Amino acid sequence: MKKFPIPESLQRDALLDNETYIRLYQSSLLDSDAFWAEQAQELITWDKTWDSVSNCDYDEPRIAWFEGATLNVSKNCIDRHLDTRGDKVAILWEGNEPGEVRKITYRELHKEVCRTANAFKSLGIAKGDRVAFYMPMVPELAIGMLACSRIGAIHSVVFAGFSAKSLEDRILDAECKLLVTANEGLRGKKTLPLKSICDDAIGKDSPIEHVLVYRHTDAQVQMELGRDLWWDEVVPAQESDCEPESMDAEDPLFILYTSGSTGKPKGVLHTSGGYLLYTSLTHRYVFDYREDDIYFCAADIGWITGHSYIVYGPLANGATTMMFESTPVYPDAGRYWDIIERHGVNIFYTAPTAIRALEKEGTSWPAKYDLSSLRVLGSVGEPINEDAWLWYYKNIGHERCPIVDTWWQTETGGILITPLPGATELKPGSATRPFFGVAPCLVDDDGKEIKDRVAKGRLCIKQSWPGQMRTVYGDHKRFKETYFSEVPGMYFTGDAAERDEDGYYWVRGRVDDTLNVSGHRLGTAEIESAVNHSKYVVESAVVGFPHEVKGVGIYIFCVAEHDLDDVEVATKDVKATIRDIIGPVASPDHIQFVGGLPKTRSGKIMRRILRKIAAGDTENLGDTSTLADPSLVDEIIAGKQR
Ligand code: WT7
Repeated sequence: MKKFPIPESLQRDALLDNETYIRLYQSSLLDSDAFWAEQAQELITWDKTWDSVSNCDYDEPRIAWFEGATLNVSKNCIDRHLDTRGDKVAILWEGNEPGEVRKITYRELHKEVCRTANAFKSLGIAKGDRVAFYMPMVPELAIGMLACSRIGAIHSVVFAGFSAKSLEDRILDAECKLLVTANEGLRGKKTLPLKSICDDAIGKDSPIEHVLVYRHTDAQVQMELGRDLWWDEVVPAQESDCEPESMDAEDPLFILYTSGSTGKPKGVLHTSGGYLLYTSLTHRYVFDYREDDIYFCAADIGWITGHSYIVYGPLANGATTMMFESTPVYPDAGRYWDIIERHGVNIFYTAPTAIRALEKEGTSWPAKYDLSSLRVLGSVGEPINEDAWLWYYKNIGHERCPIVDTWWQTETGGILITPLPGATELKPGSATRPFFGVAPCLVDDDGKEIKDRVAKGRLCIKQSWPGQMRTVYGDHKRFKETYFSEVPGMYFTGDAAERDEDGYYWVRGRVDDTLNVSGHRLGTAEIESAVNHSKYVVESAVVGFPHEVKGVGIYIFCVAEHDLDDVEVATKDVKATIRDIIGPVASPDHIQFVGGLPKTRSGKIMRRILRKIAAGDTENLGDTSTLADPSLVDEIIAGKQR
């Protein structure tokens, strides 16, 4: 395949060239501790340095970096910039309406974070306590997260597309004492009733003592006396100074929930020192970040991309980081390009699903705007198809900007496999090569590493890196089972990948029972258990199918309780049930009621067959001889066509 060369301007002045990458990469693996110690000295301001750089063992598993060291994350993201960058914009916010802008300098951010930290303290929050956030994309979300890190509280941000029930489950799992929300959120023409969803998430025995409500719109909401407080009545009255708590490098920074193949979502736990080092180093090199850049990551802070590459990485580097509240198609499909032109964005980072949705709207939208400020483009969340890659490269980057296709996960904390702008020639669809300190490998079905250069297998990582998750909150056994049991001695990613003759990696997708829908990970078991709550359904099977915009769409096969009078009513109920239990984020694309699910004689659902039917690939169903009732399959296919 043709490689896309490094643009000339980047060949001249990028932070890293190919030789430097190769040299540093090799040294980062040969003497990993020495490499990370050097980076840690350079990038992080420690209150006290470490006794040991790494202390990791994948068999136990035990993962620890910079033990004995202390630091404060908010001090690293704010205070240390005040002398040189006090008047520099830290957070550049663009609201729901075009041109609705807030600029928060590092000095202002310092005051706001201190006031908020003091407010949290006044509400009884102390070091180690958990604080839940259910917020729109407003600066107060980042301020609140940094306020937690200032006093050593642990944040748990819940994406606002999850339901009250999902929020409640997460609050209970982490025993959060404080919930921070807004009266309403805005997304395009929609308003989200966030406070009222929070009310539904707080049951009688909820550990939540207070709800702090940011007044984002004029909407009136119910406030429970003694429990609920307005942000604007509590925060501005506080002192604008708050001494940062000196934390151990391994003290928890946050919990973020993600779906797995089975059971309820896992609370992925990240700690302070290693995470901050890893996100700041990757942010600097992957995006070839320069001091005066306007940096725009279009993710939502409710996901790991927003944590690592809107908040922590960029702020640790003293960057101007954009926060965007609205959607790429409001008020029209030119919104991202309008923002890039108006703010002079240099680095733009988004997901393939957004690119595909905008590609459908045509090239006339980006053509209207001056995109010449752009230098680096990024992609994250799922494999990017060649078509979308080329569209992005030509129409947004005007063939001047490299696309960094960054592969990583909630669990990895930061980017693990990625091109580097001045060092890596690109191949559309490939995340290319590992970042410093990352040792990927491909493993066959017997759990053996495949040493051949060109290979295909399950993607594992052989040794720890500082940004790696430390445990599943409250369930270390599950941490071990999920990530370290599949292939002993290695971190198992859950992805399948290929390696080509240049040593480039091509991540193909999940091999477990999770679906990557528009770059959001959902568990099929989780959706099935929600669907089975519908009064019309006795049993269901959820599979993914290729979707033009979402990458993967959700297809649900339902078995009805008895003959249905009205399939439409039942279908609506299934949809509503999913919205109630998981949230709009898991809205299905297809629901089909069937007479029964194809099962083996031992009662196991043959998902392989259902996946093929959902994909419309019914010519070649493979071996169906082990099915208990093969006639069902034809019935399902006929039902789909109707
Ligand atoms: C899964 C992780 C990383 C933040 C957003 C998603 C898929 C992610 C890529 C990429 C191919 C990718 C993988 C991974 N994925 N980035 N560049 N190329 N696949 O975080 O919800 O934890 O999902 O997203 O399947 O395992 P997440």
